[in-house]
Amino acid sequence: MDTRIPDAVEQPWWRQGVVYQVYPRSFADANGDALGDIAGITSRADYIEQLGVDAVWLSPFYPSALADGGYDVADYRDVDPRLGTLADFDDMLAALHGRGIKVVVDIVPNHTSDLHEWFQRALAAGRGSPERELYHFREGTGENGSEPPTDWVSMFGGSAWHRVADGQWYLHNFAVEQPDLNWSHPAVRADFVTTLRFWSDRGVDGFRIDVAHMLTKDMSEPLLSTLELDALPRDGLHPMIDRDDVHEVYAEWREVFDSYDPPRTAVAEAWVDKARVPLYASRASLGQAFNFDLLQADFDAGQFARVVRDNLELAGASGSSSTWVLSNHDVVRHATRYGLPHPARDALGNPAPKHGTEWVASGGTAPALDRAAGERRARAATLFMLALPGASYLYQGEELGLHEVAEIPASERQDPTFFRSAGKDFGRDGCRVPLPWRSDGTSFGFGADGSHLPQPAWFGDYSVEKEAGEPDSTLSLYRRALALRRELQTEESLEWVETGRDDVLHFRRSNGWEVVTNFGSEPFALARHDAVICSSPLDEHDALPGDATVWFA
Ligand code: BGC
Repeated sequence: MDTRIPDAVEQPWWRQGVVYQVYPRSFADANGDALGDIAGITSRADYIEQLGVDAVWLSPFYPSALADGGYDVADYRDVDPRLGTLADFDDMLAALHGRGIKVVVDIVPNHTSDLHEWFQRALAAGRGSPERELYHFREGTGENGSEPPTDWVSMFGGSAWHRVADGQWYLHNFAVEQPDLNWSHPAVRADFVTTLRFWSDRGVDGFRIDVAHMLTKDMSEPLLSTLELDALPRDGLHPMIDRDDVHEVYAEWREVFDSYDPPRTAVAEAWVDKARVPLYASRASLGQAFNFDLLQADFDAGQFARVVRDNLELAGASGSSSTWVLSNHDVVRHATRYGLPHPARDALGNPAPKHGTEWVASGGTAPALDRAAGERRARAATLFMLALPGASYLYQGEELGLHEVAEIPASERQDPTFFRSAGKDFGRDGCRVPLPWRSDGTSFGFGADGSHLPQPAWFGDYSVEKEAGEPDSTLSLYRRALALRRELQTEESLEWVETGRDDVLHFRRSNGWEVVTNFGSEPFALARHDAVICSSPLDEHDALPGDATVWFA
């Protein structure tokens, strides 16, 4: 059957695209310094093409002291010399564009690195200077101002204020090395417009906006305490989070995006109340927003169904498409999450925000991880996700069925959350370990001289080399599914089909594409097993086994 949709060419790519997230320092190392680099990405352009994705999103590759894996940006308009040059970037862009793959870069506007020239100048210029107005400097409280201005806590733990040599304090909602910018300042606004134009002019197709809900702040005195802030509604007027006035910034960015042909795209990383997501996803603002609900759900039919219903409704409200994510560089990989017991939920059914981190903290020993079940469920969840209307975001290594790495010694950990929690929160290094390209040899083919985070011996079993040659591997399944999706993906709707089982979901798209996922353990009889076009279990049956998904067409 010809399932190609007639209006496919008229739809902008990002509405139904598959975006592959590359974490550049851990993807491929071309110059043998144990850090992945831009030329490494170029050298793997064929691999990305064979995977069958529409776009690549690059986590930050800018000059950075790596206090937060590159999200501490020292210069927004350059490439970290350890990762290459702007010329290398242009080569990579040409290599990906030449293969029909779009490129999205990460913009980090809430904070700079403390090494950014603005912050260095602010430090040198001293209190009361115009240079300090680009950030949030305040006097301390208590005797000699030796206490922070407020009791605010950073997202990575510890005080959100840091004292500089002359006694003033500055706000950093993340690491000490990430001072928050003052978005009331016109120079800050103007400079980010310049940055967006800089990358757009180079040919970049879109932007991922880091912590898009935190830029604007009402810092008028007196500053409120954490207790007072927590008591305020998140209604767009909250002093710190998800303020309506952030959309004035994005309205200006929209003009920039739309001044290009085709218009540049953006996706918001905005951890906000559901009802407010459409503000970020609307055409007047950034145009698309991440939805992390699937990433926070257990492998559970009821939760998956609710997440899909809610988010398709929200997409309707914004006019944007839905987005779906199972893994990224901030969370425990989904193959591992699904191999661990379901986490405790609060009375409202809200998920534990960091499922799997207790397992990481135990060094991977407790609770017991069922690796095989995790991988089965991860494949089933991915096939379920890829059949949904909207854009899917994949994270490097998930196509290999990679598990989180728990066995990283404290001395080799890099994530600031580990240091700021005095070692209690083991952080996100375990999903950022450099990819295994070969089954053996130096750093499993990542580079010629080691890898900046240690790779465990079992990485060889998940290498690209090994999986590319096995028709039943996770990599082969991703390739098959993505190729089929290219033909099948259609407009933003689906119809649920009754299964008579609480643990089995079945939906149908308007072009006849059907998907059944068995979240339970009892096999589910398939009426149309002769029409299966893709299936996550390694062997096919008349009945769908537990932890499995099939596609029909
Ligand atoms: C990024 C994190 C980063 C944080 C601060 C997040 O949204 O995804 O990796 O640590 O922003 O920039």
